[in-house]
Amino acid sequence: MVAGSACGKVILLGEHAVVYGHPALCGALRDGVQIEAVPGSGILSVPAWGLRVSAVKASDGSDLARAYGAVLASLGIPPSALHHDLVVRFSIPTGAGLGSSAALSVALARALGAILQIPLTPDQVARAAQAAEEVFHGRCSGLDHTVAQQGGFGLFRRPDGLVPLKAPPLPLCIGLTGRPRDTRGRVARVAELYRDRPVETRTLFRRIEELVEAAARAVTSGDLRALGTAMDENQVLLGQLEVSCPEIDQMCQLARSAGAWGAKLTGGGGGGCVIALSPGAEAAVHTAWRRAGFTSFDATIGGVEALAA
Ligand code: PMV
Repeated sequence: MVAGSACGKVILLGEHAVVYGHPALCGALRDGVQIEAVPGSGILSVPAWGLRVSAVKASDGSDLARAYGAVLASLGIPPSALHHDLVVRFSIPTGAGLGSSAALSVALARALGAILQIPLTPDQVARAAQAAEEVFHGRCSGLDHTVAQQGGFGLFRRPDGLVPLKAPPLPLCIGLTGRPRDTRGRVARVAELYRDRPVETRTLFRRIEELVEAAARAVTSGDLRALGTAMDENQVLLGQLEVSCPEIDQMCQLARSAGAWGAKLTGGGGGGCVIALSPGAEAAVHTAWRRAGFTSFDATIGGVEALAA
C-alpha cells in the first residue's frame, strides 16, 4: 500500500539567495517519491541508498536515522506505536538537487499519519519535514519541502512561502554531473562569503532577485527566450558565489552550443544537476551531454500542474 507521496522540485532561478530571504522561481516534479507501508515494526528502508533504519534507534546514527527521529518527534509518535515498515521508492535521481530528501521528508510524515490514522494538518507535515530537512542539509530556506508538499509552480520567498504563478508547460533537459550535489557545503561557503564580504555578497543576491523577477515576468508572458537569458545570467552569479563546479560549467556550455536558450545548475550546486531550456533542441542537448559522458532526461514543470496549485 502506498501510504505517502510527495513531489520533487526544480529551482529555475534563485537558489542560495533564497536562504537569505530573496525570492526563487521553482516548480514541482510530479511523482518525486512514494512510501509503501507493509506490516512490521517501524523499519524505514531506502533501497536506493542501501539503508534500513529502525524507529527505536532513530535518534542516533545516519542522517536518515536522525531525520526519521526528527519526524517522529515532531509528530509526537513513539516508536512503540508503529506496526508497519516503510519502504521509500524514488522516481527522481537522489543527491542531485531535485529535492529528493524533502520529498522523502514530506512523504514520511504523510505515511506515518496514514498508517496511524492521525489526520495531520498541512502545518504539522511542514514542521515535521522542516525538522528532517535540517538534519539532511543544516540551514535551509524551506523551499524544497514547501514544493514537495504543495506541488505547482511559483515564487517562493521566506517566510511567506510559495505564491503560485500561471506558467505554460516548461520543458527542461536535466543533466546529471555525476558528482553528488553539496548543498550543506555550498550553503556554508555562501555563509562565509556573506560574513567576509557582506557588501559584494548582498549585491549578488540583489542581482539574483532582479533576475528572478525578470524570469517570473518572462514565464507568465510566455517569453522563453528572456527566461533563458535570465537563467544564463543567474549561472554567472552562482559561479561568483562559488557554488558551481567544472562539470556544471562544462554541461552549461555544451547545452548552449547545442542550441539551449539558457542553462544553469539547479539546487545546492557543487555537483548535482544542470537544467537547460532548449525548446526544439532537446535531442541535440541530450546528445551533446551523452557524448561527453553525462546522463540526462526530460522533465516538464509548470503547465496544468501549476494551474492546479
Ligand atoms: O540541493 P537542494 O535540492 O537541497 O536545493 C538547495 C537549495 C538552496 O537554495 C541552496 C538551499 C535552500 O535551502 O533553499
